[in-house]
Amino acid sequence: MTNTASNGIKTVGLAPKMDSGFYGQDIISVRQFSRENLTYIFGVADEMRAVVKRVGSTDLLKGHVLACVFYEPSTRTSSSFVAAMSRLGGSVIPINEVTYSSVTKGESLPDTIRTLESYADVLVLRHPEVGASTVAAEYARKPVINAGDGVGEHPTQALLDLYTIQSELGQIDGLHVAMVGDLRYGRTVHSLARLLTQYDVQMTFVSPEILRMPLDVMNEVKASGRSVHETYDVHEVIGDVDVLYVTRVQRERFADQAQYDSVKDYYVITAELMQTAKERMIVMHPLPRVGEISYLIDDDPRAAYFRQMENGMYIRMALLAAVLGKA
Ligand code: NCD
Repeated sequence: MTNTASNGIKTVGLAPKMDSGFYGQDIISVRQFSRENLTYIFGVADEMRAVVKRVGSTDLLKGHVLACVFYEPSTRTSSSFVAAMSRLGGSVIPINEVTYSSVTKGESLPDTIRTLESYADVLVLRHPEVGASTVAAEYARKPVINAGDGVGEHPTQALLDLYTIQSELGQIDGLHVAMVGDLRYGRTVHSLARLLTQYDVQMTFVSPEILRMPLDVMNEVKASGRSVHETYDVHEVIGDVDVLYVTRVQRERFADQAQYDSVKDYYVITAELMQTAKERMIVMHPLPRVGEISYLIDDDPRAAYFRQMENGMYIRMALLAAVLGKA
């Protein structure tokens, strides 16, 4: 970090702002980030991309250890954190096969966290309960990074999403962003919508009635003064949007299988639909996709989801270096 106020001592309090730098801090919510913080992290991510393209890796975090603790399935988030740490010269304790029955009683999570922080310098946690990383961060003296807490937030995904918009379209201000699909249970859109309130954007939330954006996120967006609309019809917006952010219907969050079945195939982005989209726009998806984007548009230059996925590694390299005071 360029600032001097940071001393690597964790700030006490609920997901504090990154005002005095990233060093030693938890990353729990996108609410912590100012526009300056974002510009800074995107700049570091650009440098990380250049390093990877040029030489593959660096020894910036040599001797540092990351504990990667996943209580929910993951492919991209966990492997991109492992790859990020490896490319920075550090090493990883990967914990992917936890059973979380005793954690739900409120016991094991703090103990697991206390254990791992005695071996590692930074912890990444994915957990099925909203607020789990806040709890972990309260117990840990080392930085905790939230890699998804149930239907809550997924801040590192939102950072890489925003970084992708900036890299692909050269700007964020002035854009029209539509989020499509499961806005109720999709944590990535909760974080992204909140983060976008810092920019002069127009947002449209496209979902079936039962999967609408939660009221708390909606209220935050409205309170920010940004223009926001809701619709269930993707055709209504496809011709106008700069970013079409598509999400998977989160099957694992439904108590009622019949309800899931009633909405699972609600949206499919097809080549035919893409013909009505602007020439300069992008289609994004946090992945995995399960049918909501046709494979036939993968070769369309506007399909940005694989580039978005790659960006995740650069953003996570930047975040790891920043919280360990090496960016
Ligand atoms: C997302 C997640 O876990 O919330 N995946 C990811 O991290 N890229 C989206 C999803 O699972 O649908």
